[in-house]
Order: sequence, then C-alpha cells, then structure tokens
Amino acid sequence: MRILSGIQPTGALHIGNYFGMMRPAVELQEKGQCFYFIADYHALTSVENPATLREHVKNVALDFIACGLDPAKTIFFRQSDVPQVTELTWILSNVTPLPMLENAHSFKDKTAKGITPRLGLFSYPVLMAADILLYQSNLVPVGKDQKQHLEMTRDIAIKFNTQFGECFTVPEALIREEVAVIPGTDGQKMSKSYGNTIEIFGDEKTLRKKIMGIVMDSRPPQEPKPDADKNLAVQLLKVIDASVGREYEEKLRAGGLGYGDLKKKLFETYWEYFAVFRSKRAALEKSPDYVEKVLQDSAARARAEADKTMAKARRAVGLV
Ligand code: ADP
Ligand code: TRP
Repeated sequence: MRILSGIQPTGALHIGNYFGMMRPAVELQEKGQCFYFIADYHALTSVENPATLREHVKNVALDFIACGLDPAKTIFFRQSDVPQVTELTWILSNVTPLPMLENAHSFKDKTAKGITPRLGLFSYPVLMAADILLYQSNLVPVGKDQKQHLEMTRDIAIKFNTQFGECFTVPEALIREEVAVIPGTDGQKMSKSYGNTIEIFGDEKTLRKKIMGIVMDSRPPQEPKPDADKNLAVQLLKVIDASVGREYEEKLRAGGLGYGDLKKKLFETYWEYFAVFRSKRAALEKSPDYVEKVLQDSAARARAEADKTMAKARRAVGLV
C-alpha cells in the first residue's frame, strides 16, 4: 500500500499539524510505503520572500524528522525536487471542471481573508491532485480541512481514467475523527494563518505565556462546570494525553479546579510530551548535511516513480 501526504512550509509547525497529520503519518510508516513531502510549490501561493521560504523548508524538514519521520522507511522529499508534478498538473487541468475549483472552500476562505486571488491559489487543488496521483497513492492522511481537496482529487482521477483509460489509482483520505480539527488558543481551528497556534517547537517562556493566556469564563473555581467537555484546555489536554484530559475534565465538572491550575497542567503535559522531540531536533540541527542528503536521496527515488506515471499519462493523452 502506498501512503502519501504533504505539508506546506508556510510557518512554524503547530500541535494541530502534529496531531492532525504528522503523528498519524508517522504511525503509518509501519503500514506501507510512505511518500511524505514538503509542499514548497504550494507555499508559493502565500510566501513571497525567497529567504523566508528557504527557512521554512529547512524547519519543516527538521521538525518532521524530529517528530518521528524515519528516513530509512519513508521517502521524504521537497515537492519542487520532482518538477514532473507541474507537468501532471497541466495535464490534469484539462479534465478539471471550472465549477469544481470555484466551489473550493480554501480559495473562498483565503480570498475572504484578504489574500490576493491569483491563478496559483485558484488552481492549488489541481497541483495537490497531481501530488497524489503522480505516486499512485492509495491512502492520504490529512486533517479535516483537506477533505474537499481529497474529494476533488478523486473526481479528477476518475474523470481522467474514464476519458483516457485506467491510469491513476483513486486515493482515499484518512481523517482520524478524534483529531480531525484541533482547536487553537482562540477556540477556532488551529492554523498558521490565524495566529492561534501552539508551536511544536519553541521557546518555553513564550509557549507558557500563550497557554496561560487562553481566555476562559469568569466562573469561580468552586463552581461545578457541567460543560467541562467544552472547555478548550480540557479538549487540548485530551488530545495530548487522553487519560490526563479525562481526569481534569472530571475535576472541572465537579468544581474546585481553578482555570489557572488547569492551564498549568496543560502547559506541563504539552511541554513534557514534546521533550524527546525537542532534543532530537537540537541534535539534527547540528547535521544540516544529513538532512539535505535525506531530501536529495528521497527525491531521486520519488523522481523514478514519477517518471513511470508520467510515461503512462503522456501516452494516455497522446503526447507521444
Ligand atoms: P495550517 O492551516 O496551519 O497552514 P497546513 O494547511 O499546512 O496547516 O496543514 C498541514 C496538515 O496539518 C494538513 O494535513 C492539515 O489538515 C493538518 N492540520 C492543520 N491544522 C490542523 C488542525 N487544527 N487540526 C487538525 N489537523 C490540522
Ligand atoms: N494542501 C495541504 C495542506 O495545506 C498540503 C498538501 C499539498 C498535501 N499536497 C498534498 C496534503 C498532497 C496531502 C497530499 O495541508
């Protein structure tokens, strides 16, 4: 079975990325041949400074390996090291109905937030379909926000296969319900673009401040809280450590637990969970050559797979 996923190098990775996509992706390394990549072509839709983009790419590579991606098991590469994906994007553009892209939530959301509507952003889902279909992927672990993109990918694959004959594997999304949408410090979906993130890696003081700064209601500690399951700190605690989360949910429900103590527990649990990854990342940071070699060796293997699919796709549409 072939498993594939990508992550955009658009800022520091957060625990929404980790629990929603990276941890499931790491666990799947035992289940099949994994292709995980840094979606730097996609990042061009929002990152305009070349030095910033390079910095983000470097950080995502370090973060992902530190969080358990095993380069001995997984093909881990930069999207742009396999430029075949842009050729496939063009081919797929010609079976993609315009209304499908016009209905894309992510385009609507991003432009509503003031991002300039450009062609790259509009055709983002076609590039994503190409990422997935190029490697004949069966399974794509992602957070819930990517569900529609996966549906579009399936539609595009089916349309192509129907029109030109079987060429692409039709993939399935893998979205774990319990971590489908991790909330941010403001209760909205945690996202690099909303300024509500808890980073996986960062400075202790800043992160403690962010967590202690989560706004709660003004009910006194003694008051029982029948709605304890809706409490943001409880929800995050449950994601990081289900049993501690349940314990604190009960304490809050019963009354007697202050919000300050709850948030302190959240910070400590979070900080402790990522401690091992933090030291692994610090060690990796000292070996940039190793990381670069992983990316380049993987890209060579990815290109070999890409060439196989491209030969089929080109032949199918008559480009020979
Ligand atoms: P962001 O919204 O922060 O820019 P990305 O779009 O780069 O995140 O997402 C990378 C991966 O992490 C995707 O699979 C996405 O679904 C997942 N992901 C991002 N935010 C969350 C979240 N809050 N909860 C669950 N999964 C998430
Ligand atoms: N669009 C995804 C995101 O923002 C990143 C991505 C690009 C991706 N290509 C992909 C995810 C292919 C899975 C498969 O998170």
